[in-house]
Amino acid sequence: MVRWGGLDKLPPGTTVLDVGCGIGGSSRILAADYGFDVTGITISPQQVRRATELTSQGVSAKFLVDDAMALSFPDASFDVVWSIEAGPHMPDKAVFAKELMRVLKPGGILVVADWNQRDDRQKPLNLWEKPVMQQLLDQWSHPAFSSIEGFSELLEATGFVEGQVITADWTQETLPSWFDTIWQGIVKPQGWMRFGVSGFIKSVREVPTLLLMRLAFGTGLCRFGMFRVQRSKVKG
Ligand SMILES: C[S@@+](CC[C@H](N)C(=O)[O-])C[C@H]1O[C@@H](n2cnc3c(N)ncnc32)[C@H](O)[C@@H]1O
Repeated sequence: MVRWGGLDKLPPGTTVLDVGCGIGGSSRILAADYGFDVTGITISPQQVRRATELTSQGVSAKFLVDDAMALSFPDASFDVVWSIEAGPHMPDKAVFAKELMRVLKPGGILVVADWNQRDDRQKPLNLWEKPVMQQLLDQWSHPAFSSIEGFSELLEATGFVEGQVITADWTQETLPSWFDTIWQGIVKPQGWMRFGVSGFIKSVREVPTLLLMRLAFGTGLCRFGMFRVQRSKVKG
């Protein structure tokens, strides 16, 4: 994702905002391996606490509670805005697109990797796709998935895009991750064992959803979308 976004060509000290950073995995990689100055934001104070605990002294990544629907940063604050798998949580995708672009400096780069559903505007979801999609939304509290085409249009509509939104479909490349997530829970049980019986129950409860995600991505109902945008020098 760093290479695809052209971020590996940027100098140390480049400022990056990681939107929906979870417990900070990618923020730490961007800071430790590329020397970037990273700010990770999430809506969850618990994730901020854990991300901070996991980040060694000397790694330039800090974590804050903030809402991607109304970021607390002024316009044009960051050289790079980065987001992984946060979009499905956003109740208004147009506002999300606008906020991502707003805080980017002119000439800056946005790179997003996200779960999307197929574009259903020409061919609506069929009899089995509808209930599967509803389960995927309900299980992980997602208000809705965008399509790659739909989110790309929303980014264009912000009026901040230089040239065009570049997209890619990484469904095939990411497909093994669904079974692997289950496998990692088996071979590395220390993650959930720390939480005893409730950790075991919560982990097992994830398995049907992970299998459903694998089914959705394997059949074309869901698509793993990549988005790369350069912000224009002036608002279009
Ligand atoms: C599926 S996780 C992805 C975490 C991380 N990017 C990763 O790849 O491991 C989605 C993240 O989006 C965050 N999130 C959800 N709604 C948000 C909001 N309105 N503002 C900021 N973060 C939000 C969640 O707290 C979580 O950290």
